[in-house]
Amino acid sequence: MEAGVSGGEGEKAEFEPSEITYVSYGGEHHLPLIMSLVDQELSEPYSIFTYRYFVYLWPQLSFLAFHKEKCVGTVVCKMGEHRSTFRGYIAMLVVIKPYRGRGIATELVSRPIRVMQESGCDEVTLEAEVTNKGALALYGRLGFIRAKRLFRYYLNGVDAFRLKLLFPQPYIHPTLLQAAQEAPTQRSSSDTTKESH
Ligand SMILES: CC(C)(COP(=O)(O)OP(=O)(O)OC[C@H]1O[C@@H](n2cnc3c(N)ncnc32)[C@H](O)[C@@H]1OP(=O)(O)O)[C@@H](O)C(=O)NCCC(=O)NCCS
Repeated sequence: MEAGVSGGEGEKAEFEPSEITYVSYGGEHHLPLIMSLVDQELSEPYSIFTYRYFVYLWPQLSFLAFHKEKCVGTVVCKMGEHRSTFRGYIAMLVVIKPYRGRGIATELVSRPIRVMQESGCDEVTLEAEVTNKGALALYGRLGFIRAKRLFRYYLNGVDAFRLKLLFPQPYIHPTLLQAAQEAPTQRSSSDTTKESH
């Protein structure tokens, strides 16, 4: 969904990483902060209904980064059934220019990814412009792979990569898997036996 816009880095802000606080979406007062950041920094225009759809349904998957009282970054996500998988989706990620390159996006995006994994997601996906080197490098470092190229995906005509992070499946010993596969057969045969008596 998201599409980054390119631009100069501008003036760098002076801060220690420990001065940045990360909070999950806490209600309507956070909505204008998220909207203002995303509207400034992403090329794709979103309506208020789109923002509300995400933050009302998955408040636990949206986060904001603050430096003192100032909102300097945000991430907005969702999760749900998709075909045969339970999947997380990163819709928007933004850090304002003076605060970039200091790990804020990494911290922001790691939070919903953790919640998605704990909630049982099999994978996390998103789209990014093929020209968005910063985002592609950031997600690449986090383990996302380029699953697909989407032709002229954005309104500005630029192609997108669909990026995907696959969570490792827990290791289950083959004997247990075999036992699990056999269990319903045994149960149904004993049920049949019971019914026939
Ligand atoms: C992409 C964006 C969110 C990155 O925010 P950030 O806080 O600077 O990211 P981080 O500091 O956590 O960067 C982590 C890693 O990402 C990569 N990265 C981030 N920005 C980069 C850039 N401009 N060029 C190359 N690599 C970059 C690097 O690998 C970096 O690791 P390093 O610091 O060890 O080199 C920010 O540039 C932004 O808001 N851009 C505009 C909106 C956008 O494009 N959103 C993503 C849409 S898919």
